[in-house]
Amino acid sequence: MNPSILVTGGTGYIGSHTGVELMGAGREVFVIDNLSNSKASVLERIERIAGRRPEFAQIDVRDRAALRKLFVQHRWSSSSGDGRARGGRRSGAGGDGGGALGDFPGVQINSRVFLQ
Ligand SMILES: NC(=O)c1ccc[n+]([C@@H]2O[C@H](COP(=O)([O-])OP(=O)(O)OC[C@H]3O[C@@H](n4cnc5c(N)ncnc54)[C@H](O)[C@@H]3O)[C@@H](O)[C@H]2O)c1
Repeated sequence: MNPSILVTGGTGYIGSHTGVELMGAGREVFVIDNLSNSKASVLERIERIAGRRPEFAQIDVRDRAALRKLFVQHRWSSSSGDGRARGGRRSGAGGDGGGALGDFPGVQINSRVFLQ
Protein backbone atom coordinates (compact mmCIF):
# COMPACT_ATOMS: atom_id res chain seq x y z
CA MET A 1 0.00 0.00 0.00
CA ASN A 2 1.19 3.53 -0.73
CA PRO A 3 2.36 5.46 2.30
CA SER A 4 -0.14 8.02 3.47
CA ILE A 5 0.41 11.69 2.82
CA LEU A 6 0.40 14.03 5.78
CA VAL A 7 -1.56 17.22 5.09
CA THR A 8 -1.08 19.95 7.68
CA GLY A 9 -3.83 22.53 7.92
CA GLY A 10 -5.89 19.82 6.27
CA THR A 11 -9.30 21.03 7.46
CA GLY A 12 -8.64 24.52 6.08
CA TYR A 13 -9.55 25.77 2.65
CA ILE A 14 -6.47 24.77 0.67
CA GLY A 15 -5.70 21.74 2.83
CA SER A 16 -9.17 20.23 2.52
CA HIS A 17 -9.15 20.62 -1.27
CA THR A 18 -5.67 19.10 -1.35
CA GLY A 19 -6.88 16.14 0.69
CA VAL A 20 -9.85 15.55 -1.59
CA GLU A 21 -7.62 15.62 -4.66
CA LEU A 22 -5.06 13.28 -3.11
CA MET A 23 -7.74 10.78 -2.09
CA GLY A 24 -9.26 11.08 -5.54
CA ALA A 25 -5.85 10.06 -6.88
CA GLY A 26 -5.97 6.99 -4.67
CA ARG A 27 -3.69 8.15 -1.88
CA GLU A 28 -4.26 7.73 1.83
CA VAL A 29 -4.36 11.04 3.65
CA PHE A 30 -3.60 11.88 7.26
CA VAL A 31 -4.77 15.35 8.29
CA ILE A 32 -3.40 17.38 11.14
CA ASP A 33 -4.86 20.75 12.09
CA ASN A 34 -5.15 22.72 15.30
CA LEU A 35 -8.67 23.84 14.28
CA SER A 36 -7.78 27.48 14.96
CA ASN A 37 -9.46 28.51 11.72
CA SER A 38 -11.56 25.51 10.73
CA LYS A 39 -13.88 22.91 12.15
CA ALA A 40 -13.57 19.16 12.52
CA SER A 41 -16.91 18.88 10.68
CA VAL A 42 -14.94 19.61 7.48
CA LEU A 43 -13.81 15.97 7.70
CA GLU A 44 -17.41 14.90 7.07
CA ARG A 45 -17.57 17.09 3.99
CA ILE A 46 -14.28 15.62 2.75
CA GLU A 47 -15.72 12.14 3.30
CA ARG A 48 -18.87 13.03 1.41
CA ILE A 49 -16.88 14.22 -1.60
CA ALA A 50 -13.99 11.76 -1.56
CA GLY A 51 -15.93 8.73 -0.34
CA ARG A 52 -13.42 8.14 2.44
CA ARG A 53 -12.63 9.94 5.65
CA PRO A 54 -8.99 10.88 6.18
CA GLU A 55 -7.35 10.05 9.47
CA PHE A 56 -7.17 13.12 11.65
CA ALA A 57 -5.29 14.42 14.68
CA GLN A 58 -5.84 17.80 16.30
CA ILE A 59 -2.25 18.96 16.57
CA ASP A 60 -0.49 22.30 16.32
CA VAL A 61 2.44 22.14 13.90
CA ARG A 62 4.50 24.11 16.44
CA ASP A 63 4.07 21.31 18.99
CA ARG A 64 7.29 19.37 18.57
CA ALA A 65 6.43 16.72 21.15
CA ALA A 66 3.05 15.95 19.57
CA LEU A 67 4.58 15.79 16.10
CA ARG A 68 7.36 13.52 17.28
CA LYS A 69 4.83 11.17 18.88
CA LEU A 70 2.77 11.11 15.70
CA PHE A 71 5.79 10.41 13.52
CA VAL A 72 6.90 7.56 15.79
CA GLN A 73 3.41 6.06 15.80
CA HIS A 74 3.16 6.17 12.04
CA ARG A 75 6.80 5.46 11.30
CA TRP A 76 7.00 8.42 8.97
CA SER A 77 10.40 9.89 8.43
CA SER A 78 11.85 12.63 6.29
CA SER A 79 13.91 10.12 4.34
CA SER A 80 11.29 7.44 3.71
CA GLY A 81 9.87 9.07 0.62
CA ASP A 82 6.53 9.66 2.30
CA GLY A 83 4.89 12.78 0.98
CA ARG A 84 3.92 15.71 3.12
CA ALA A 85 1.84 18.58 1.92
CA ARG A 86 1.10 21.72 3.78
CA GLY A 87 -2.07 23.73 3.53
CA GLY A 88 -2.79 27.00 5.21
CA ARG A 89 -0.90 30.18 5.79
CA ARG A 90 -2.71 31.63 8.77
CA SER A 91 -0.51 30.24 11.46
CA GLY A 92 0.06 33.30 13.61
CA ALA A 93 3.45 32.11 14.79
CA GLY A 94 5.33 35.37 14.28
CA GLY A 95 8.04 36.23 11.80
CA ASP A 96 11.70 35.47 11.68
CA GLY A 97 13.05 37.15 8.61
CA GLY A 98 12.77 37.90 4.95
CA GLY A 99 13.57 35.78 1.96
CA ALA A 100 11.17 34.35 -0.55
CA LEU A 101 8.68 33.51 2.19
CA GLY A 102 8.98 36.90 3.84
CA ASP A 103 5.27 37.56 3.40
CA PHE A 104 4.45 34.33 5.14
CA PRO A 105 6.42 34.39 8.39
CA GLY A 106 4.25 31.76 10.04
CA VAL A 107 4.92 29.36 7.22
CA GLN A 108 8.64 29.85 7.58
CA ILE A 109 8.82 29.26 11.29
CA ASN A 110 6.24 26.47 11.39
CA SER A 111 7.85 24.62 8.52
CA ARG A 112 11.15 24.72 10.36
CA VAL A 113 9.60 23.13 13.46
CA PHE A 114 7.80 20.63 11.29
CA LEU A 115 10.88 19.61 9.33
CA GLN A 116 13.01 19.29 12.46
N1 LIG B 1 -13.07 30.90 -2.34
C1 LIG B 1 -13.43 30.58 -1.13
O1 LIG B 1 -14.52 30.17 -0.85
C2 LIG B 1 -12.38 30.69 -0.05
C3 LIG B 1 -12.68 30.24 1.24
C4 LIG B 1 -11.69 30.31 2.22
C5 LIG B 1 -10.44 30.80 1.89
N2 LIG B 1 -10.18 31.23 0.64
C6 LIG B 1 -8.84 31.75 0.29
O2 LIG B 1 -7.92 30.72 0.58
C7 LIG B 1 -6.75 31.30 1.18
C8 LIG B 1 -6.57 30.80 2.58
O3 LIG B 1 -6.75 29.43 2.62
P1 LIG B 1 -5.81 28.58 3.58
O4 LIG B 1 -6.16 27.15 3.34
O5 LIG B 1 -4.41 29.03 3.42
O6 LIG B 1 -6.26 29.07 5.03
P2 LIG B 1 -7.26 28.41 6.05
O7 LIG B 1 -7.27 29.30 7.24
O8 LIG B 1 -8.54 28.04 5.43
O9 LIG B 1 -6.53 27.02 6.43
C9 LIG B 1 -5.46 27.00 7.32
C10 LIG B 1 -5.67 25.80 8.23
O10 LIG B 1 -4.51 25.68 9.03
C11 LIG B 1 -4.89 25.50 10.37
N3 LIG B 1 -3.79 26.02 11.17
C12 LIG B 1 -3.40 27.31 11.31
N4 LIG B 1 -2.33 27.37 12.12
C13 LIG B 1 -2.04 26.09 12.47
C14 LIG B 1 -1.05 25.51 13.31
N5 LIG B 1 -0.14 26.26 13.94
N6 LIG B 1 -1.05 24.17 13.46
C15 LIG B 1 -1.97 23.40 12.82
N7 LIG B 1 -2.94 23.90 12.05
C16 LIG B 1 -2.96 25.23 11.86
C17 LIG B 1 -6.21 26.26 10.53
O11 LIG B 1 -7.01 25.78 11.57
C18 LIG B 1 -6.84 26.01 9.16
O12 LIG B 1 -7.64 24.85 9.16
C19 LIG B 1 -6.95 32.78 1.15
O13 LIG B 1 -6.33 33.28 0.00
C20 LIG B 1 -8.46 32.93 1.10
O14 LIG B 1 -8.83 34.14 0.53
C21 LIG B 1 -11.13 31.18 -0.33
